[in-house]
Amino acid sequence: MRALVYHGPGAKAWEDVPKPEIIADTDAIVRVDTTTICGTDLHILKGDVPVVTDGRILGHEAVGTVEDVGLGVKNVNPGDRVLVSCVTVCGSCRFCREGHPGQCLGGGGWIFGYKIDGTQAEYVRVPFADTSTYPVPEGVTDEKILMLADILPTAYEVGVLNGGVRPGDVVAIVGSGPIGLSAITGARLFSPSHIVAIDLADSRLEAAKQFGADVTVNNTTEDPLAVIRSLTGGLGADVAIEAVGVPATFELAVQLSRPGGRIANIGVHGKPATLHLEDQWIRNITITTGLVDTYSTPTLLRLVTSGQLDAGRFITHRFALDEFDEAYDVFARAGETGALKVVLSR
Ligand SMILES: NC(=O)c1ccc[n+]([C@@H]2O[C@H](COP(=O)([O-])OP(=O)(O)OC[C@H]3O[C@@H](n4cnc5c(N)ncnc54)[C@H](O)[C@@H]3O)[C@@H](O)[C@H]2O)c1
Ligand SMILES: [Zn+2]
Ligand SMILES: [Zn+2]
Repeated sequence: MRALVYHGPGAKAWEDVPKPEIIADTDAIVRVDTTTICGTDLHILKGDVPVVTDGRILGHEAVGTVEDVGLGVKNVNPGDRVLVSCVTVCGSCRFCREGHPGQCLGGGGWIFGYKIDGTQAEYVRVPFADTSTYPVPEGVTDEKILMLADILPTAYEVGVLNGGVRPGDVVAIVGSGPIGLSAITGARLFSPSHIVAIDLADSRLEAAKQFGADVTVNNTTEDPLAVIRSLTGGLGADVAIEAVGVPATFELAVQLSRPGGRIANIGVHGKPATLHLEDQWIRNITITTGLVDTYSTPTLLRLVTSGQLDAGRFITHRFALDEFDEAYDVFARAGETGALKVVLSR
């Protein structure tokens, strides 16, 4: 089969590799029908994630058709259309049982395109198939369901639910990439009074408006703190969601929150960020961080299937499965191309 293989920083190739086979009896082999690229894949390609070594097939998001299952797989059958999520669930370790498979101790967690071969391929081996795949409901397209493989549950769990968004809240979201836009989408389910989107790029702020932010701030020209204060009688945001992953945006999110406010960090950080406890100790704030667990996937599947959550609007570009070079190029130049999610399909 063909797959997108990582060959060290800056190097990748769509090349012939052996087709995956069942190793454990809880595995399934899934034919990849639709896959996509995540910002994290760009980090890996830059060499920021040294766990990923030469020869690894990239990708952690897919919708596909089950081709074969191991003897121990009970609920997944050849021919089933399934969502392959970024988080694999062993189902029996302490963290899986407590609803936190992102921290799985039994060989799951985030492993695709990281510790094991991923989904940017014609076929993928899916460990713990019973607990790590979701049947795709009738009448909903593969590409909409694909948005549930990572961005929608990530922003919903780590941003919206960790941040405890409630009706009437003023929600500040720093960063309007796919994750920030997903956080806007998730926050709207709770009827906040205002969603303030903050980004450096006007194209991203334009998207934020379309996704439902009623206030947008370009922080190269405007002061987000002044905007938030003017909306909140000087207090600050009830919830501030960080969706970028650099020290400045974490520090900004903390500044934007009101006393007693909640700051939910989603960004993956590569450098230390400063927590100004000399200012913050007195403000009763709550800060949360996390890796997605995907416990919200069944809820989000129902919302996408019923049409209450429009997952299709994230898709800006479509490619054939063998056009990874073009797709990565368009996705990596999102500022110029306007790319949000690029989808590659058979
Ligand atoms: N916690 C998790 O489980 C998890 C899962 C997936 C992704 N992530 C992380 O979420 C973050 C966002 O992902 P994405 O795919 O949306 O990334 P992205 O790069 O597409 O979007 C980031 C946005 O932030 C904006 N930005 C950059 N610097 C800024 C600044 N100083 N002020 C305001 N805006 C700024 C950019 O213009 C861009 O629109 C990344 O760090 C990613 O690794 C976390
Ligand atoms: Zn991802
Ligand atoms: Zn587990």
